[in-house]
Amino acid sequence: MITLEDVARQAGVSLATASRVLNGSTRQVGASLRAKVERAAAELGYRTNLAAQTLARGASNVIGIVVHDLTDPYFAALADGAMRVAAEQGLLVMVGATHRDPEQEIAYVASLNAQRVRAVLLAGSRVDDPHVTRRLREELARYRANGGRVACVGQDLLDVDTVAPANREGAADLARALAGLGHSRFAVLAGPPGLLTAADRCAGFVEALAALGLPEPVVIHGAFDRDGGYAAARETGEATCVFAVNDVMAVGALASYRERGIRVPDDVSVAGFDDITTLRDHVPALTTVRLPLADMGAKALTMALTTEPATALTTDPAAGSNTRPASESTAISATALTTDPAAGSNTRPASGSTAVPATGSTAGPAVGPDTRPASGSTAGSAVGPAGAPIMGPAARSAVAPATRAASGPATEAAKVSGGDVGRRVERVVGEVVLRESVRRHG
Ligand code: GUN
Repeated sequence: MITLEDVARQAGVSLATASRVLNGSTRQVGASLRAKVERAAAELGYRTNLAAQTLARGASNVIGIVVHDLTDPYFAALADGAMRVAAEQGLLVMVGATHRDPEQEIAYVASLNAQRVRAVLLAGSRVDDPHVTRRLREELARYRANGGRVACVGQDLLDVDTVAPANREGAADLARALAGLGHSRFAVLAGPPGLLTAADRCAGFVEALAALGLPEPVVIHGAFDRDGGYAAARETGEATCVFAVNDVMAVGALASYRERGIRVPDDVSVAGFDDITTLRDHVPALTTVRLPLADMGAKALTMALTTEPATALTTDPAAGSNTRPASESTAISATALTTDPAAGSNTRPASGSTAVPATGSTAGPAVGPDTRPASGSTAGSAVGPAGAPIMGPAARSAVAPATRAASGPATEAAKVSGGDVGRRVERVVGEVVLRESVRRHG
């Protein structure tokens, strides 16, 4: 094996100089010495020792992506977007799958911290468990205190840069679109009640139907996967239209109906949420709420990599929240409002599909960013996990119209600043896409 000593000898420099050049120390090496070392390394076919490099730099060229389920196309799409960003920046990726065990997620953060990875991306729904959320926040704070960077895709509960899908709002838009087609008897394949993404989508749908004066839908809880949708579809009774809170559940429901000779959409209409790419080949094509998943993964990792390492963030384990003085934690500005142009490229014109732009329902009380405090309260107050208002109603209505006019899924970015820690929350509003799995009723 070719060692650093071999390179140093061939280049005629000290071991320290060779290490500075090849392991990327911050100490400068003159151009001619650098060239000698690089030439010697190339001639000998030297391959960098990553462990040595990590020691020299204090951080590796590795990032961690933690997902709930690698077999779920939702996570494949998010990870794909993030991994493209990692590849562009020459970073390697470690992937962990929690199998939907929140304890495993905390353990991964600890391991990735021990590996000194440069950044961690946590993808997936948070759970309605304040204790678990607090412990995850504490583990993240430890990692960030070591210079690590973090972003997440999901509810804004971790006090890190966040790409937050507008789950309630998307489901409400879908409910209005389906009601507009004449449906009034609905069932919701609602997933687990304690999973916030599932709960928010269910709540948004149910609330929108109530606002239209329609009967309460049948709500069937179950697993948040294909088998959960398959099982729950047996209990949809007389519903003429079924909303599965994610696409893979909808795919399970389609299989269940097919096996029982129930025709979609002739006998029952079915809709999902996410627009996973595997839907492209489904017959009938699935009505859904499109989220630009790969873009969301890419955006989240980009945010993590462009954030200054947190320095002064302290966590009081007893309080279970970040304990910045209130004066530092309340400065909020809805700044960098963006509509992601790349999102428009996701609008593939599936045959027979109609994209229904989101309807700009900024008046609804429940359409804001996920604003639960870490205690898990769902009271909908405009208070973030650090006790800071994230984006109050005024900011929300100020930013919403501009983004809602866009044709693709809209994103709304807010910079949440607190003292020397700035973090960003990018809210992604999905877009209802009507396809063949839904038909007009009556
Ligand atoms: N949409 C939001 N979260 C998820 C998830 O965990 N799985 C799937 N399939 N869709 C989602």
